Amino acid sequence: MSKFKAYRVHTVGGKPVCRFEQLGLEDLDPGAVVIEVAYSAVNYKDAMAARGVGKNVRTDRPCVTGIDLSGTVSASEDPRFKPGDRVIVTNYKLGNEHDGGYADYARVLGDWIVPLPEGLSLYEAMCLGTSGLTAALTVDRLEAAGCAPAKGAVAVTGATGSVGSLAVDILARRGYSVSAISGKKEQSRFLQAIGAQRVMSRDELLADRSALAPPLFAAALDNVGGTYLDRLLARTLPGGKVAVAGMAVGTELTTSVLPFVLRAVDVLGINVSRQLQMPERRRLWGRLATDLKPGHLAEIARPIPFEALDAAMDRFFEVTTVGRVVVEVGARAPK
Ligand SMILES: NC(=O)c1ccc[n+]([C@@H]2O[C@H](COP(=O)([O-])OP(=O)(O)OC[C@H]3O[C@@H](n4cnc5c(N)ncnc54)[C@H](OP(=O)(O)O)[C@@H]3O)[C@@H](O)[C@H]2O)c1
Repeated sequence: MSKFKAYRVHTVGGKPVCRFEQLGLEDLDPGAVVIEVAYSAVNYKDAMAARGVGKNVRTDRPCVTGIDLSGTVSASEDPRFKPGDRVIVTNYKLGNEHDGGYADYARVLGDWIVPLPEGLSLYEAMCLGTSGLTAALTVDRLEAAGCAPAKGAVAVTGATGSVGSLAVDILARRGYSVSAISGKKEQSRFLQAIGAQRVMSRDELLADRSALAPPLFAAALDNVGGTYLDRLLARTLPGGKVAVAGMAVGTELTTSVLPFVLRAVDVLGINVSRQLQMPERRRLWGRLATDLKPGHLAEIARPIPFEALDAAMDRFFEVTTVGRVVVEVGARAPK
């Protein structure tokens, strides 16, 4: 195979230096399955790796980043996969400890691969990716814990973000009254268009600082952490559930025990990285292709050319990005 294009992160003097390079298959980390990458995406973790936020990518040698990919198998030494199979890979070590999705080809372990479910295109799979899987796991866990539309409103923080907007869409389609909590006033229309019944500003959520504020939500998904999570807990109805998925603000949490002790609020931890076992992963992707498939992927996701990837990393931390950014790696147009 001739050389192909890849976006790699090199660590120079402790800082990431990202560039497009020409690589051969032998330059990639080993794996039994070679995938011709169609699409990848820009996730929070990808932007962190590209801009040196947190310790998110190996530093001892260059790494092709990109924690999500969809594509077509071009060669396989794993009997479970054959050339022509359409597949998805998200998380595991992809894009941080093992060369990832920002290259025309990826070489991965068969154990990391999810066959593309019927009902999703390769493009739609990356409109979802890690963010969609996070939203799906959240809804799945909330409902397994007893949440239902009749029990009351569901709040989503970081609502215009990648995980947030997909969650708003999925929850609204399932009949929930969704309160989208966002710092972007100018995106109220977008949030309503994807299904939010109410748009609440971050300031409104933070206004009442009492340990037990008047309850508003039967359930919540928090993508932000810190004070926002504390306020969600204080605003949750008795017996309500709060799913914790993110830390866009930070990892610290100061709160009170009162929501747990006096209102019996439960917290559900959400993690779709290595801890999510393959059978569960396949089940959730099956749901994302059917009953949890969002209805507004065209509004939530936008494709960018592979060449525009570096600029997209900068925009990610300006908190101006809305929804999900899909990277056209091999495929040049959404299908
Ligand atoms: N648990 C898991 O398995 C898992 C999987 C994927 C992602 N995550 C985590 O989930 C979080 C969200 O990921 P994402 O991909 O949706 O990121 P994202 O697209 O950047 O969205 C994050 C959103 O959070 C809000 N936000 C950002 N900075 C903020 C600040 N300083 N104060 C208050 N709100 C702020 C913004 O929404 P508004 O402007 O609308 O308020 C932003 O759009 C990240 O922490 C990510 O690491 C976890």
